[in-house]
Amino acid sequence: MLVLTTGDWNASLYDAKHAFVFAYGSDLLELLAPHAGELILDVGCGTGHLTAAIAQSGARVVGLDRSPAMIEAARQRYPTLEWHLDDIRSFLYPQPFDAIFSNATLHWIREPEAVVERLARLLRPGGRLVLEMGGRGNVAAVCSAVEKVLQARLAIRPANPWYFPALGEYAALLEAHGFEVQAAWLFKRPTVLEDGERGLRLWLEMFGSPLLEAVPEERKEEILSAVEEQARPALFKEGHWELDYRRLRVLAHRL
Ligand code: BEZ
Repeated sequence: MLVLTTGDWNASLYDAKHAFVFAYGSDLLELLAPHAGELILDVGCGTGHLTAAIAQSGARVVGLDRSPAMIEAARQRYPTLEWHLDDIRSFLYPQPFDAIFSNATLHWIREPEAVVERLARLLRPGGRLVLEMGGRGNVAAVCSAVEKVLQARLAIRPANPWYFPALGEYAALLEAHGFEVQAAWLFKRPTVLEDGERGLRLWLEMFGSPLLEAVPEERKEEILSAVEEQARPALFKEGHWELDYRRLRVLAHRL
């Protein structure tokens, strides 16, 4: 089963097996430091756990995601909060936001200028942007294992579906769009997957299907096994997979 083959996410699998995405994100909430009365946008809210945590501060939070399954799950779980099914590149809102928050989302959009331009437009002057995404070198060992296997067995070179910028590159992009960057970090965050031996293939099914989309259905099992063997020396440790995540974290204000 590949979770993204219908073009949408499997929200319950995401919650059940990949909770580390929002568990790690709670750290980022401290940097956001939301307070009562603020209007805050959560870009790529997923199933809404961090949005709901922001709302506990008394801020009014708007959750935005372009996945119908994620927004539906968020709406069911937190029916009193405000949810929008939309793409950040075209999203508009009648009031400017005091802050914009985004965790583990913006690397999915390979048009960073369009994203940053829209973030600037949605924020009030002086408003803050707190984001975390995959940074330069993120999951490089996974990508390299997939690329080697696809090249050797199918003569396919998969296109990288993600945007993992370097710190200076992203800071310059923000500055070019009217932001002042107060702080930015690029750091390693090795990420342990659940489910022991099956962890990598479950991760690939949830997140890596754009990398594997050219693989014919009847060869998927063979390819997944070969990727596991290729990645094992670097990423399988003491009974679990530990992926080479690298995070780019940014605090910026709109001028
Ligand atoms: C990330 O959060 O860094 C990530 C998640 C899925 C695929 C690639 C990167």
